[in-house]
This record gives sequence, C-alpha cells and structure tokens, in this order.
Amino acid sequence: IKAEPLKVMISGAPASGKGTQCELITKKYDLVHIAAGDLLRAEVAAGTENGRRAKEYMEKGQLVPDEIVVTMVKERLLQPDSQEKGWLLDGYPRSSSQATALKGFGFQPDIFILLEVPEEILVERVVGRRLDPVTGKIYHLKYSPPETEEIAARLTQRFDDTEEKVKLRLLTHNKNVEAVLSMYGDITVRVDGTLSKEDVFTRIDAALRNLLGQRQASIDLK
Ligand code: AP5
Repeated sequence: IKAEPLKVMISGAPASGKGTQCELITKKYDLVHIAAGDLLRAEVAAGTENGRRAKEYMEKGQLVPDEIVVTMVKERLLQPDSQEKGWLLDGYPRSSSQATALKGFGFQPDIFILLEVPEEILVERVVGRRLDPVTGKIYHLKYSPPETEEIAARLTQRFDDTEEKVKLRLLTHNKNVEAVLSMYGDITVRVDGTLSKEDVFTRIDAALRNLLGQRQASIDLK
C-alpha cells in the first residue's frame, strides 16, 4: 500500500518566513506549493477584474473577500498535481470562514505549522525583502543577500512591503489568528521562526518526517 500524499498548512505573521520555508519544503518533499498571496498577485499582474478588486484590499493590508479567495484556492487544490503529489498551503486559511469553507470542500490538512516571530523583527524583514522576478526566489538584503551582482541588479520589491503597510497586515493577522488556530489545535506544530532559516527548516523537517513515519507504521500494521 502506498501512503497518502502529505497535506500541509503553513501560517504565521507577515514576513515570518512562510515563503522561505515553502521553498525548502517543496525542494525536499516535492509538494505543490499553493500560496494565496502569490495567486492574488498573479491576478493583479494579469489585470483581471478579481485582481483589480483584490489590489484595493492588499494595499490596505486587509483580507481580500472570501468570494475571490476561496474559489481561487479551491480550484488550485483540485488540480491533478495537488491531488497526486500532496499540497503545501501557504497563507490560507486566514479566517474562520475560510477554514470552514475548506473543510466543507473536504480538504483536511495533516499538520498545521505556525511560525512564531515577534513583531519587532517582522518590520525589519519586510523592509529588507527583495524578490528575483526570474527565479521567484526570496532574498533579504541583510539575512539572505543575492549570490551575484547580476541577480542583485534585477531584484524587485513588493508593493505592500513598506513599514506602514506591514503594520496594517499585522493588525489583520492578529485579529484573525486565534480563530484559525482554534480549528487546527490538535494538529498544530509551533516553530520558533526567529532562528536561522536552516534551523527553522530542521524543525519543520523533523515534524514532517515524524508524520510520515507514523503513517508508514500504521500501513505496516495492516
Ligand atoms: P502574503 O503574500 O501571504 O503576505 P504575508 O502574509 O504578509 O506574508 P509575506 O509573504 O509577507 O511573508 P512570508 O511569511 O512569506 O515571509 P518570507 O519568507 O518572504 O499576502 C499578501 C496580501 O494578500 C495580504 O495582506 C492580503 O491582502 C492578501 N491575502 C493573502 N492571503 C489571503 C487570504 N487567505 N485571504 C484574504 N486575503 C489574502 O520572509 C520575509 C523576509 O524575511 C525575506 O526577505 C526573507 O529572506 C527573510 N527571512 C525569512 N526567514 C528568515 C530567517 N529565519 N531569518 C532571517 N531572515 C529571514
């Protein structure tokens, strides 16, 4: 018998390191990375009606309405690659209504990872963040600088990565986090996100290996 593919959720405040850890997790576990923020930014870049509406909320650091986000994420989860390889859901759900909707569609995660980082560190991470439009890789001017001059020259910044806007995103996060956590309490793993990105990954990796080990053990018993 083959084990079911992994279904993972990762959550945390803005700039707590979700995207950075997702790069490392997908490299090792080959899960399909589904980031609500990335899906929304793709709509904004494509200039769709949903994108235009979404941007109004993203600029204020508020949650984009469920009628846009819920369908978008659900459709991505239903794609054959997510079903076959398993998924890594990043930045969703962010409210109890989103969590309830997901459950209603039959999507239940195996594990809910929460990255814990205090507020004073988050602002510095956001302001120094840069993105490589060619590879999609996430950098930080101080903590994860680009490898070459060529990459450094083409780095871009997100439109909502200012000190003022991250504070608004943080308010939204703080308002909703407890409601989401209460729905996944029994499968939540809290990870100290202030450690180096390698050390954060070591902890996440241990939790995922443990989960796979438990599954294998229960299959072996059958
Ligand atoms: P989204 O794109 O999800 O933004 P966010 O939650 O604010 O999170 P970030 O992407 O900013 O940070 P991250 O945790 O991925 O950190 P990263 O790894 O880049 O959402 C944007 C907007 O879209 C929302 O405000 C909302 O409007 C809308 N939206 C999204 N999802 C929605 C939903 N479900 N419903 C409704 N609306 C939704 O790291 C940050 C920086 O720190 C980088 O520079 C990195 O290099 C550095 N870094 C990372 N780890 C470390 C480390 N361990 N040590 C030192 N530096 C590190």
